[in-house]
Amino acid sequence: MNQQRPDNAAADSLLSEHGGMRRFSLSPSPSLDAFRAICSQKATSEQYPLAACIKDNVPIYSLAPFSSTTSDQRSALQDEWYRVLLHGPGVFVTQGLYPDTELIDRVNRVFYVIIQKEKQAATTHGDHFAGAGKNDRIWNSFSKHGLEDPASFLRYYSNPYIGLISSAWLGPGYRVTAQVNNVKPGAMAQVCHRDYHLGFMSAERCSEFPRAMQVASQCLTLQGAVAHVDVPLEIGPTRLLPFSQTFSAGYMTYRLPEFNDFFIENYVALPLEKGDGLFFNPALFHAAGMNQSGDINRLANLLQISSAFGKPMESIDARPLVEGCWEVLQRVYKENGFSDEVRAFVAAVAEGYPFPTNLDRNPPRADDMAPVSEQDVILKCLLTSESKNGVLEALDRYRRATQL
Ligand SMILES: [Fe+2]
Repeated sequence: MNQQRPDNAAADSLLSEHGGMRRFSLSPSPSLDAFRAICSQKATSEQYPLAACIKDNVPIYSLAPFSSTTSDQRSALQDEWYRVLLHGPGVFVTQGLYPDTELIDRVNRVFYVIIQKEKQAATTHGDHFAGAGKNDRIWNSFSKHGLEDPASFLRYYSNPYIGLISSAWLGPGYRVTAQVNNVKPGAMAQVCHRDYHLGFMSAERCSEFPRAMQVASQCLTLQGAVAHVDVPLEIGPTRLLPFSQTFSAGYMTYRLPEFNDFFIENYVALPLEKGDGLFFNPALFHAAGMNQSGDINRLANLLQISSAFGKPMESIDARPLVEGCWEVLQRVYKENGFSDEVRAFVAAVAEGYPFPTNLDRNPPRADDMAPVSEQDVILKCLLTSESKNGVLEALDRYRRATQL
């Protein structure tokens, strides 16, 4: 039962080590052999006794009606899911997460209405992997669903298993967001990647985050997907690499060709049925598969559930501070350009992280996946010598764009 873990145990070893480097280095690149050893582990039903079975290293849970479970049973499930996500395979399936497939069908109709409306409005942006127009993507399907059809929204998001699973990984106070992905026949597979936060920025930007922060970031989010159609292997269920989330350098290495090759040779993919759920640690190497069917859309609602801890203690409004300081800041900038002092001030006064945002109006940029931040707006206004009114208008425009 107690398998010897190779040199992974990312959070444990990294946070207790002394004298290590602050940042990951790709030169030399982290060890593929160590990654291989991590991914060669085997999950067993002795380790995860509440799972109905383990298939291709992925524990599969057959969910009983929530009301029939005791608080002890729920607590035991949470303990097991936590172990799966932290040091185990990093991913599990929940069969029958939505046993009422009539509800899923109704929600699908809502999603298609939203997709059609957005196509007619043509103001939105597509799948950041497939490119606009190839697949259908509903950014913030959570809010759009709630506004389009409150009755089915309430039924869908009152599923108590969503709360049980979310709090198993994130504790209380989590925030649910969701995006719909409709992958059409013939759509190519995604490239292997990790997810939000560090998976939503360029490799260069990612490398600026210290190693412990890279490991810790996986504890700030839980990824989920609800199958809204049956997903046989031919329509490309998500490709998964169990245990890969425990490789501490993984946010730096998933783009490297040798790691991508290893993923292609070793991933697993499991068929799902309509209403099943798939939950995984955002640091798991994964990629949506290719839709090889001739006529079946692969429709899924992607849940992204965030920790309560991703927030500061006080609210800071940059606008009045920029208004008060703009002339002085412009003068310093004109004298010294983008000096360390100017950058430090902008970093202190404005929001440097572009999330949460409205991804329809502030979409991921092709070059580094991350949308524009408030700091980007201010730096650009310095560069273009905007007046005080100009920078304030730019900030107002940005805020309108990033909100609902
Ligand atoms: Fe992903």
